[in-house]
Amino acid sequence: MTEVGNSRDDSVPLDLLQSLYLNPILSPTSSSSFARSAAPAPASASTHTRTDSVTTECYGPSTVRDWPAAVAFTTRTTFPPVKKLAPQQRKRILVTGGAGFVGSHLVDRLMFLGHDVVVLDSFFSGNKTTLSHWVGHPNFELIRGDVVEPILLEVDQIYHLACPASPKAYQRNAVKTLKTSFIGTQNMLGLAKRTKARFLLSSTSEVYGSPTVHPQPETYWGNVNPNGPRACYDEGKRVAEALTYGYARQDGVDVRVARIFNCFGPRMSADDGRLVSNFVVAALRGEPLQIYGDGSATRSLMFVHDLVTGLISLMDSSYADTPVNIGSSDEGTVLSWAEAILSLVRDLRAAGQISPLPAGKRESVIEFLPEVVDDPPRRRPDTTLARETIAWEPKWTVQAGLEETIRYFAALLAE
Ligand SMILES: NC(=O)c1ccc[n+]([C@@H]2O[C@H](COP(=O)([O-])OP(=O)(O)OC[C@H]3O[C@@H](n4cnc5c(N)ncnc54)[C@H](O)[C@@H]3O)[C@@H](O)[C@H]2O)c1
Repeated sequence: MTEVGNSRDDSVPLDLLQSLYLNPILSPTSSSSFARSAAPAPASASTHTRTDSVTTECYGPSTVRDWPAAVAFTTRTTFPPVKKLAPQQRKRILVTGGAGFVGSHLVDRLMFLGHDVVVLDSFFSGNKTTLSHWVGHPNFELIRGDVVEPILLEVDQIYHLACPASPKAYQRNAVKTLKTSFIGTQNMLGLAKRTKARFLLSSTSEVYGSPTVHPQPETYWGNVNPNGPRACYDEGKRVAEALTYGYARQDGVDVRVARIFNCFGPRMSADDGRLVSNFVVAALRGEPLQIYGDGSATRSLMFVHDLVTGLISLMDSSYADTPVNIGSSDEGTVLSWAEAILSLVRDLRAAGQISPLPAGKRESVIEFLPEVVDDPPRRRPDTTLARETIAWEPKWTVQAGLEETIRYFAALLAE
């Protein structure tokens, strides 16, 4: 695969995207000549060594004269190349939650495609480094803000992703998750109404709850526990969908709703408890892969580049009638995904593509823990509607996506 995207107009070379998450972000600059001409290194600086990659040593000494000769200064030298669009083609696009896992990949894609991108994020579960490669770019703006507060902006499209997505993150403050889903969505819909922007809600397969229909089509109304520990997220997204269609019917807001199924990829948080990141990080560290329950629950895994293509295709399509499932039909048991990840990590190690196991560690084993409350037993989308209305289906195999994700986490852990 050399490109990602659904059509010639929205495709981006894969190696450009990879350069943003598989390679170091910072590089040394010629200012090392300045370092060489500085005062001789004090004896206490003997541990400072010259490096050709990122160094944290620049945060050490307090005055310029103290810099040891061996310090490498780091900065971004250039921005990644972006398409030059004619003004009438270039859109002003707001991505709420753009510093999160999915949002940051969406922002990368929209930036490469040449649009003006504004990110609004509270960093509740996002990370300040996911988008640092765009900071300062004339097409990019990052606003630290909470969608629960109204904001005045002029935009043409709104991708509304702001909401913690992992159970660990959304259960940390259930009331806040509900406020984000309800008041936050209401604020963004109000902005869409005022600016006549097209609005896309990132909803979730969790609106189907513990499904009694399999696979799940968009017409299935779901089976959600309204007061369990996951209700803040599941019911929050259900009310967000209801609000979205309320604004469409009542105020004529142009809306799209994507129901996203399990997605994985680089930039997932290493410790937020989601299936793929949990298993990959444990396998790389030589720690047990922990499965809640007996491992027979199923999950369908979609690689993040496919999801981003689906979101852009839905936003740019004329289909607005109903929510659209965006997910993969590659369904497997949780146990089978754990075994697949262990075997891929073993193969990549044997091929020398990732570091060997840390000293004193043995290859990971699988460990079974008690089941968690309301964890859905089966999940697989019916994606007929996405195929028929927006010509979208996943292109990445789970294996290719997992390999990419393992390489990312291996580099991250090595750092
Ligand atoms: N990743 C998946 O598998 C998946 C599945 C279904 C749905 N989704 C949906 O996709 C969206 C993105 O998910 P993700 O996996 O990137 O999650 P994430 O937690 O990595 O990203 C969410 C982002 O929203 C920000 N945010 C949270 N509350 C906010 C608030 N009140 N104001 C402003 N910013 C706020 C966070 O800081 C973070 O950057 C979410 O809406 C989620 O419900 C994701």
